Formats: sequence, structure tokens, C-alpha cells
Amino acid sequence: MTEVAKLEKHGSIAVLTIDSPPVNALGLDVRRALLKYISMAEADPEIEAVILACAGQTFSAGADISEFGKPFQAPDLGVVCRHIENSSKIIVAAIHGTALGGGLEVALCCHYRIAVPSARLGLPEVALGLLPGAGGTQRIPRLIGARKALEFITGGAPVSASAAREMGIVDEVADEGALVGSALEYVRKLIAGGAPLRRVRDLEDRIAADRQQPELFDEFRRSNARAFRGKDAPESIVKAIEAAVALPFEEGLAREFELFVELEKGLQAKAQIHAFFAERTASKVKDVPGDTPVLPVRTVGVVGAGTMGGGIAMNFLNVGIPVHIVETAQANLDRGIATIRKNYEISLKRGKLTAEALERRMSLLHATLDLGDLRDCDLIIEAVFESMPLKQEIFAKLDAVARDGAILASNTSFLDLNQIARATSRPDHVIGLHFFSPANVMPLLEVVRGDATAKPVVATAMKLARKIGKVPVLSGVCDGFIANRAMRARTEQADLLLLQNLSPDAIDAAIYDYGFAMGPFRMLDLVGLDVIGRDSTERSVAKDLVAAGRMGQKSGGGYYDYDEARAARPSEAALDIIRAHAAWKGIAQRSFSQEEIVARLLHPVVNEGAKILEEGIAMRASDIDVAMIKGYNWPVQTGGPMFWADAVGLPRIVETMKALEAEQGEAMRPSRLLVELAESGRTFGSL
Ligand code: 3HC
Ligand code: NAI
Repeated sequence: MTEVAKLEKHGSIAVLTIDSPPVNALGLDVRRALLKYISMAEADPEIEAVILACAGQTFSAGADISEFGKPFQAPDLGVVCRHIENSSKIIVAAIHGTALGGGLEVALCCHYRIAVPSARLGLPEVALGLLPGAGGTQRIPRLIGARKALEFITGGAPVSASAAREMGIVDEVADEGALVGSALEYVRKLIAGGAPLRRVRDLEDRIAADRQQPELFDEFRRSNARAFRGKDAPESIVKAIEAAVALPFEEGLAREFELFVELEKGLQAKAQIHAFFAERTASKVKDVPGDTPVLPVRTVGVVGAGTMGGGIAMNFLNVGIPVHIVETAQANLDRGIATIRKNYEISLKRGKLTAEALERRMSLLHATLDLGDLRDCDLIIEAVFESMPLKQEIFAKLDAVARDGAILASNTSFLDLNQIARATSRPDHVIGLHFFSPANVMPLLEVVRGDATAKPVVATAMKLARKIGKVPVLSGVCDGFIANRAMRARTEQADLLLLQNLSPDAIDAAIYDYGFAMGPFRMLDLVGLDVIGRDSTERSVAKDLVAAGRMGQKSGGGYYDYDEARAARPSEAALDIIRAHAAWKGIAQRSFSQEEIVARLLHPVVNEGAKILEEGIAMRASDIDVAMIKGYNWPVQTGGPMFWADAVGLPRIVETMKALEAEQGEAMRPSRLLVELAESGRTFGSL
């Protein structure tokens, strides 16, 4: 077995280094090694103090997440933490990279903490549907007070070393690149100054003050009710911090553990842990090994500076890659550039960007009306109107202009990438890069692999996606690719339910209660009904509403009525239009149970997902979950549609689909794969 830690002496100071790549997670071997080496240091009379550091890219990223849900193996992290905190010798955590979750909790048990400026510290357990279970909810309030602790732990976002220093989590900031040297110097100073063994558990001032204002917890709950809706972990975190303030340390710790175990056993944590690993697995392409050579992407071209082109360009500017953006007319170019600047100015106002960084990014943007200016680009992304003849024309021109070996990508939402690729002499260098709107914000990037796309081109796209902070999911070519195709199943059913006598409010409420931020009809009203159906000539409810002057929120009414504050109210006028449309189509009216509404809206998404898998469009069921979570904000606490379907039980999904097939015909037939899995008692997770 390779050693996962080592202890080295520097005079009277020992440096204990965890070395367990890739992220120094606190798996069983590391926990055992920590116990062993702390005991050795404790027993060694020559050692006065210990520095706890980590090798490689980062300090510990926390508990080994792959151990969750498996049988427990002692020693647990709590025991290790206690052992460190109880040491009779000063232990100092020396932090670089990220100290996350259990990693930070271990550092909190050390008596002092020093970190390099680039380090980041956080308790992100909430993102896994968990809470910090190794004392984090008890020790952090003792350092920063309950109010800040509530924000820090329910928010889960890591903070910089300097912010942590200001908050009182870190004691000293080290020289970048010289952590152990700085830590040794710091420890010598502590020893020389007779610094005490400072145990966070004994710090009482902050929580004594918090005890005087117990109302702060309910205030916090009230002001975050919307953000925490449907999720178990935030409320458990609030309870654990309440316990930190109200109970003696040991009792608070026991309460934290109890709440942790409850969450760990629940479906939400399993779903969110599934989502964590699914996201990381999605970037691995089975027949494109990790060591496939990638092509350089030093300069990017973007064709079209509309809604998508501008956002796409920002992704590259953000990471220092120059962009040449092309339009057909100066006015369009000016508008596109102004929108990019405006978006950056919003970030500037919010303090997320400095004026300097803004100008640096804008200076990397080159605007042009001449496609020929893209001749030196390594990657060119087309984002013009969704029209096959136009895209083919542009790809033929790009093929003539672009240098040999440059990648030509399309942001098409629905069109056949293979047909686009055939307009060029280099279909092997054509790929789909399907961004989601707003392209500078939404994390999903569907990488669409055409029949001829070369492996290095796929590898380049997957790697580039991560570089620009996107989560890549590989898709084959089909109408709508993965996320849009699966989501269309929900849209179609929502439209039909509306005509079968369900109100927009009833449908939106079901989707909202499932965990989405907004139901489909409120969303349509927000976007504007005139924008939605503009490319189709087919009569629809949305078109009938527009004909009656109901464009959505902006005109005071759409599927709902809106008051001055833009609050939605059910609309009799809209219901009349919907009923008239249903009568015109001859659709029978009926009623639905709450349960039936969710099933009818979301089981078809699962069925479409199964077809996407069966056709080999997605590599794995978990890729579909990632696409829906990252592209459509599918509630992460459900794990995505395919994980959720496994929990619901596939036979139930088949049953719904059979009922829908009887009512709506072949399009709703349960997929072969779905039926096979259901009949053999298997799940998508077992594939
Ligand atoms: N446990 C197990 N594996 C982990 C892990 C963890 N805590 N953190 C990361 N990994 C794995 C990833 O799955 C990935 O594996 P792969 O290469 O086989 O796909 C590998 O480490 C590298 O991870 P990333 O691809 O995410 O690398 P990045 O450099 O982009 O990010 C990171 C590094 C910021 C540390 C990121 O991995 C991360 O956020 N990790 C999770 C941190 C976390 O949630 N910690 C809390 C754990 S729960 C806990 O501690 C409970 C405690 O309170 C009791
Ligand atoms: P848009 O209409 O906002 O922008 C298209 C831009 O392309 C316009 O500014 C137009 O002037 C420009 N253009 C047209 N022909 C051109 C040419 N020959 N050379 C240079 N520029 C040209 O459209 P949007 O919404 O940005 O869509 C672009 C593409 O992205 C489409 O294929 C669309 O399907 C896809 N897409 C759109 C999403 C969305 O939510 N809007 C989401 C994901 C993909």
C-alpha cells in the first residue's frame, strides 16, 4: 500500500503531510494515517509542534464522497478531529489550494491556521445535500458568530484566504509558493511567544453574544425561505447552528452528527452525490482516452453577435482568449458589443469584476464585418439564425477562410450537424458547441459529435469546456440533442394538459412544488409570448393570447394577469381563450389528481431520456441528468430525471406512458429500453 501521509522533522517542528491524490480526500487510509502520525508526534519528546499540510494541488477537499452510503469504517472523521484538537502540542494547519468540507473541519481542529493568498476555504456540504458532520457547524459559529456562520454554511461557497482572515477563520496569510517555509516561521514565532493551545471548541464569546438574540435563526429562515424551498440540508444546517449556540459543545456536536446521519440516509443527499460524480463522469468520453492529443485554442472566432454570439464570446474573453466577432452590418456589431460591455458593467457594479479586468476583457474583443478576419482563429463558432441554408453557406465560406486544422463549430439548437459539416471539406473538424441561454451564465455545454468528427476535436472541445467553466456533456446528432429534446416532452404535455382543463396555475404549481424555480407558463409570460412562437405558423394557445393583445408580463397579461408589481394572478380572460382553443381542437375536458399532473409532465421526459440512450445519443443515463440540471436548472435534489425515475420505480413510469400512448398515440409509446429495465427489475443507474 502506498503511504498516504508522512512525518518529517524540521528541528523541533514536525511537518505532517497528507499525500493522497488527486485531492487529499479524507478516506479511511488518510484518517488512519492522521491518527497514527499525530500519536507519534505526541509521543516524541523532541517534537514541540506540528504543521499539518497537504501535498499536490490542494489541501484536503474533505471527506471521501465515494464512501458515503457504504458501511461505516472506523475511525470516523470526528474521532480524528478530536484527536488533533486534544493534542498537547500546537498543531497548525498550512493551507493551499482548497480546504473544503471535512478538510476545513480538520483545519478547524488545529490550533492555528495559516494559508497562502490563493487558497480558498469553504464548507460546501450543502451542495451534496449534507451538512458539515465533523464539527464544522459547531466550530465555525465560535469563530465568526452564528449569523455569518448561517450564511457561510448554507451558502457553501468558499472564501479567499484574505476574507477568511478577516472573518477570523485563518490566523495568518503566508507567502504564495512558500507555504511550509512561512508556516515554520509562524510556528517558531508562536512557540517563542508562548502562544496557548487555542482550541476553537473553547471559544465562547461569539456564541454567548448570539445567545442574546435567538430570533436571528427564524429571521434567517424567513428571509431564505424561497432559496431553501424543497431542500432538506439548509434547514438541518440552521438547526445544527442553533444547537451550537444553545447547547454545550459536546451536546451540540452530538446533535450535528444526528442531523448529518439523517441527511446522509435521505434521498436528496444520494441524488446530489450522484449529480456530483455524474458531472465529473460526463466529461469522459468512452472511446476518446484522456491522453488523446488536443488542438491548441489560442484565438476564437464567433460568427453572429446576437443573443448567443455575444454570450459565447464572453466565455473566452473571461479566460483571456482573444475573440474575433463577425456580423453582417455595423449596427448589429455595435449592438452586440454594447451588450457585452453592459453585461460586464453589471458585474462591475456588483463588485464581481474590477474596472481593469473589464477593460482587459474588452480589449481582447475584435469586431469585424469581414469573415476573412477569422483566418488565424483556431476555433470558429457560428451563432447565426437557425436556418440550414444560411448555416451551410457560412460553413462553406468558413472552410475557405479558416486555416488548416482549425475547428469549425455550430451553436445550432436543433439542426442536423452532419448536414452542416457536409458543406465543408473538413467534416472531421466540424463539431457542435451548443451553449444554453444566457451563454455567459448557464453552465451546460452540449458537445455535439458528428458522424465524422475526429477524436482530437472531441477531446479539445471537452477540455476547452472546462477551461471556460462549463460542464460538457457529449451528445450525438438528433433533433434537439439531449436537453432540448428531453425538455420538449414536458412542454408538449404542459400544452396538452392546459387544453384538457388544467389551469396554467395548477400546472406551474406542480412544477414549482417539484423544485423548479418557475413553472412553464410563468416562464413563457416572462420571456414574452410574441417571441416564443414567432417562427411557426401553426395556431397555438400562445398565438391566440397574442392575438388578444396578451404578450405576457410586458403587456400586463399573458397566461396570467399582472399587476403593477408584476405579481401574477389567475386570469379569467386567458382561461376563456384556452377553453375556446380546446373547443376548436375538440379536446375532451377532464380532471387530474396532483400526483397525476407531475407524472404526466415529467414521466414523458424520462421516456424521451430512455430513447436518447437507446439511440446512443447520450453515452450514459447520468449524462442526461447532468444536461437537465446544468441546462434547465432541473432541481438537483432530485438527481435529474433519470436518477429520479429510478427512485420512483421504472414500472410506474411505464404505466404512465402506456396510459399516455392510449390517449395520444405512438409518440408516447414507452421506450424499449425503459420497458426492458422495468420488466427485469433493473434501473438506469445499473446500466
Ligand atoms: N471525495 C472523493 N473524490 C473527490 C472529492 C471528494 N471529496 N473531491 C474531488 N474528488 C475527485 C473527483 O471526483 C475527481 O475524480 P475523477 O478525476 O476520477 O473524476 C477528482 O477528485 C478531481 O476533482 P475535480 O475534477 O472536481 O477537480 P477540480 O480541480 O476541478 O476541483 C475540487 C477540485 C474543488 C476539490 C472539487 O473536486 C470539489 O469541489 N470537490 C468536492 C469538495 C466537497 O464537496 N467536499 C465536501 C465533502 S463532504 C464532507 O467533507 C463531509 C464532512 O463534513 C463530514
Ligand atoms: P439572434 O437572432 O439573436 O442572433 C443571430 C445574429 O446572427 C444576428 O445578430 C444576425 O445579424 C447575425 N447574422 C446573421 N447572418 C449572419 C452572417 N451571415 N454573418 C454574421 N452574422 C450573421 O439569434 P440567437 O438567439 O443568438 O441564435 C443563434 C443561434 O444559436 C441559432 O442557431 C440558435 O438556434 C442557437 N441557439 C439559441 C439559443 C437561444 O436561447 N436564443 C440557445 C441555444 C442555441
